[in-house]
Amino acid sequence: MSVRSGYDHRMRTHCFRILILGASGFVGSALQAQLGARHEVVGASRSGRVRVDLGDGAAVRGLVRQRFDVVIHTAGVVDLAAAQRDPELAYAANVEPMAALLDAVEETGAKLVYLSTDNVFDGTREFYDETATRAPINVYGRTKAAAEDLVLARDRHLVVRLPLVYGRSPGSDKFLARFAAPEIEARTDIVCNPLYLPGLAVMLEQLFELSGVAHVGGAETLSRFELTTRVRDRLGAPAQIIPTDASTRVEDCPRPRRLVLRSVRHPLTGPDVDSALDDLTGVRQWTGR
Ligand SMILES: NC(=O)c1ccc[n+]([C@@H]2O[C@H](COP(=O)([O-])OP(=O)(O)OC[C@H]3O[C@@H](n4cnc5c(N)ncnc54)[C@H](OP(=O)(O)O)[C@@H]3O)[C@@H](O)[C@H]2O)c1
Repeated sequence: MSVRSGYDHRMRTHCFRILILGASGFVGSALQAQLGARHEVVGASRSGRVRVDLGDGAAVRGLVRQRFDVVIHTAGVVDLAAAQRDPELAYAANVEPMAALLDAVEETGAKLVYLSTDNVFDGTREFYDETATRAPINVYGRTKAAAEDLVLARDRHLVVRLPLVYGRSPGSDKFLARFAAPEIEARTDIVCNPLYLPGLAVMLEQLFELSGVAHVGGAETLSRFELTTRVRDRLGAPAQIIPTDASTRVEDCPRPRRLVLRSVRHPLTGPDVDSALDDLTGVRQWTGR
């Protein structure tokens, strides 16, 4: 696979052999299902059918040696509060496996697509594009920034930064499950441009040829409270949404207040929330095109 610096619309037509690390997770399982329709995809995680622990460098090398064009790395500690409580665990999962993984990927000529986060930014700016300076304010963001550095030091791989991701996932119910609770707390003072999960695979396919950093995000900027309320309303869930903010909630982790991801590298964007919710509730299918 060639690596060029430009955005290439034709990429979607190629069939790649793809390895997804973290394929049992919220994002990884959706990518496996969707990319699997057009590419040859192997999904691995600690608990899935193909098992690998990222901490086991030899096992990672053995898996990666099965010759892939693209390795999409989605695995690790993603819970911000858990990372804040146990920084050693977060570094062990998110940073330490990177060197062995990168060595293995480079040995085979594959390309690494590393999924990172808007939490590498501090939330003090109106928006962040790929030229913005990172300044993480929590442990999770610092581990992701450290992993990004290792990926970017190798020159031809790709870091894709995501905002909050929402929607249905075949492997994890973590976004929708909360709507079964009688009450849901949601912050009014935390704002982002959330990305509808079913749109991500199509976007990634079009970014595979890029290297360096690429941001992806949704078309609309809104608070967690607004997003939660709109999803609740469309699902018809009985949950009461309790508005909270920094003054009413003891924070389990420092959280950036405003994280809006924009791109200067490509024109792709996820759907607005109403289109996403049409898709989620089966009113109209959003194809990503
Ligand atoms: N969800 C979001 O809103 C969001 C927002 C921004 C960025 N991201 C990024 O997107 C990626 C995926 O997030 P997610 O929400 O899908 O996370 P998730 O649901 O927690 O899934 C994480 C995956 O990592 C695997 N994993 C964890 N430790 C592992 C290890 N030592 N070895 C092998 N596999 C391991 C887990 O599987 P096992 O437990 O089976 O090992 C699981 O498949 C992450 O890189 C995250 O930083 C997510």
